[in-house]
Amino acid sequence: MGQNPLPSVTEIGPRDTAMQSAFCDYVPQVFRRAGFRRWFEWGEWDDDYRAFALFEDGRVVANASVMRMRLLLEGRAVPAFQLGAVGCLPSHRGRGLSRVVMNAALDACGGAPVLLFANPNVRQFYPRFGFQPWKQTLFAAPHEAVPGGTPAPTLDLADAKVRARLATLSREGLPVTERFGARGYSTIATWYAANDFARPLRQLSDDAWVFASVEGDTLYLDDIFTREPFDLRAQLPRLIDRPIRSIHFGFTPERWWPEAVEAGEDTEADLFVRDLPLSRDAHRFPVLAHT
Ligand SMILES: CC(C)(COP(=O)(O)OP(=O)(O)OC[C@H]1O[C@@H](n2cnc3c(N)ncnc32)[C@H](O)[C@@H]1OP(=O)(O)O)[C@@H](O)C(=O)NCCC(=O)NCCS
Repeated sequence: MGQNPLPSVTEIGPRDTAMQSAFCDYVPQVFRRAGFRRWFEWGEWDDDYRAFALFEDGRVVANASVMRMRLLLEGRAVPAFQLGAVGCLPSHRGRGLSRVVMNAALDACGGAPVLLFANPNVRQFYPRFGFQPWKQTLFAAPHEAVPGGTPAPTLDLADAKVRARLATLSREGLPVTERFGARGYSTIATWYAANDFARPLRQLSDDAWVFASVEGDTLYLDDIFTREPFDLRAQLPRLIDRPIRSIHFGFTPERWWPEAVEAGEDTEADLFVRDLPLSRDAHRFPVLAHT
């Protein structure tokens, strides 16, 4: 008596256009800087991404999304899931609605490992669902270089052909790291581009693309999508428009710059994992693979 029935969760997949639109309306109400509409209009919402939402009067009031991930752990392929867009409208908080969508999202993950990147306000929230925090490390290398050669052209991810090519490179190419990385996450990288959060995508060759830009005298190399290994050192002058003295990596550079050193903890990552057998060795999950 007097108890409201548990609200039922709706799964939103890539073909549920009207509900996807409601989801796109929800996101900026909870995450001020993030949007999904452009990404969705680009056709990047595919079968790998499912949103578990509670609706009220046609509006999404709480949500937890699940992205299928093809993780690589110490070289091993590990099927897993990554949660994202977990939240509740401010007006509806404190009623257990996020617990309902979190449980639905976790059910959809079955027994597979799950990871997510949180924020400082919710560090006590995810442990309630069996997650534990895991350290992420920054990597850097001192390296002096000056501009040279033909500047690598900048590619525009608003172009569907560029997105399709990135998807192929990400699926079939060389993973940027095998310590703790993934394959086939181009639809996550394009989300950053659709929100104008990504560094420029530079084309070193048909088969070697990098997200990189210079700040001060540091080259920030966020990701490398390539078919084959190449001589990164020799290509760096094509990525810079002024002299640099160091490189910061958006991933563990065990393959691309083995001499790189640990440059402290990535205190902004807030990685949480559930049933994910991660090593205690220092690693950084590629920044453009965070949902
Ligand atoms: C964090 C958030 C999702 C919680 O939503 P909510 O609907 O109020 O949460 P619920 O009412 O379902 O609470 C579930 C449980 O978590 C607890 N909880 C809620 N918010 C919490 C927080 N910020 N930290 C720790 N615990 C929290 C509740 O007390 C409740 O515990 P109980 O079941 O033991 O009583 C919501 O505040 C939000 O949308 N925040 C902004 C977006 C955000 O930062 N999302 C996380 C992105 S990684």
